[in-house]
Amino acid sequence: MRRQLKHFMVICMALVVVLAGGCGKGTEQGSPELLLGFSQIGAESAWRIGNTHDIEEQAEKYSISLMLENANQKQENQIAAIRRFIAYKVDVIAFSPIVEDGWDNVLTEAKNAGIPVILVDRDISTEQEGLTTCVIGADFYKEGVMAAEYLLRKIDGLGLEHVNIVEITGTENSTPMRQRQAGFMDTIVEDERINILESIDGDFLKSRGAECMRFLLETYGESIDVVFSHNDEMTLGAIPEIEKAGFVPGKDMIIISIDAGQKAIDVLKEGKINCVVECTPKLGKELMETALKLKAGKAVDPVIHPVEQVFSDEQDPANIEPRGY
Ligand code: AHR
Repeated sequence: MRRQLKHFMVICMALVVVLAGGCGKGTEQGSPELLLGFSQIGAESAWRIGNTHDIEEQAEKYSISLMLENANQKQENQIAAIRRFIAYKVDVIAFSPIVEDGWDNVLTEAKNAGIPVILVDRDISTEQEGLTTCVIGADFYKEGVMAAEYLLRKIDGLGLEHVNIVEITGTENSTPMRQRQAGFMDTIVEDERINILESIDGDFLKSRGAECMRFLLETYGESIDVVFSHNDEMTLGAIPEIEKAGFVPGKDMIIISIDAGQKAIDVLKEGKINCVVECTPKLGKELMETALKLKAGKAVDPVIHPVEQVFSDEQDPANIEPRGY
């Protein structure tokens, strides 16, 4: 019995070592300087896959041990992952919340365990103070504003007097969906030339983008002048549907997308997308530096936004550097 117990304890200790150090590079002493638990949403887009790679790469660079969990687009999986990080006593927890609501309980558990939490990419909505330390991610509101400002310039340039828009939105109740829509709508609301035909949830997925576009084409057909899609994945799903319906994307319909991944930039070069607002997935460096500061008990900025730009038919697309995602 004693031998069995000893055996069991050796296995447990080995497991702890693997969990703590096996996923990243440790310090010279063999023990990791910082153990970071990160819950990723899933792999719904090239953006998301690029974001995961970047975080893995930067963890390696900064010698941070990373416990990475993929939630397969489910909030309950993210909550379970955060509970596991608490049980493993990681130094810092980071996660990209799939939606904004429903995090108070698990984040209170992290707070009670004394583990600082960083929000990556997306924000949460809560009444409670001090559940998270900061958010590192794009200014989604500004992205919506930049998309709308491009549209206003385009409409002026073409001298259009009436424009019908369809909007394919990202995951309902997610920060990019809420903020991109708000930024876009606030910017066009006063313009009497513009009419929104419909906003429809495409969940940031290529397959849903295609489905939504089929529905919109069946419902509104040639009345559609503009497609505003909240990410490249849905745009790349919608474009073949527009072509199948006999329209020329980029000419018969103005196509506006967000992310600016390589595939969308290639389609912009073909003239089938008119404008792509950048949303960079490269948040890993900021994440690692912020986690190290928190571990050292230092203060961090509450909001960290990367600088982003707009790519469109207003410029020579030949000059766009390879995007890396
Ligand atoms: O939260 C960022 C968004 O999520 C990106 O625009 C999208 O491509 C991703 O799935």
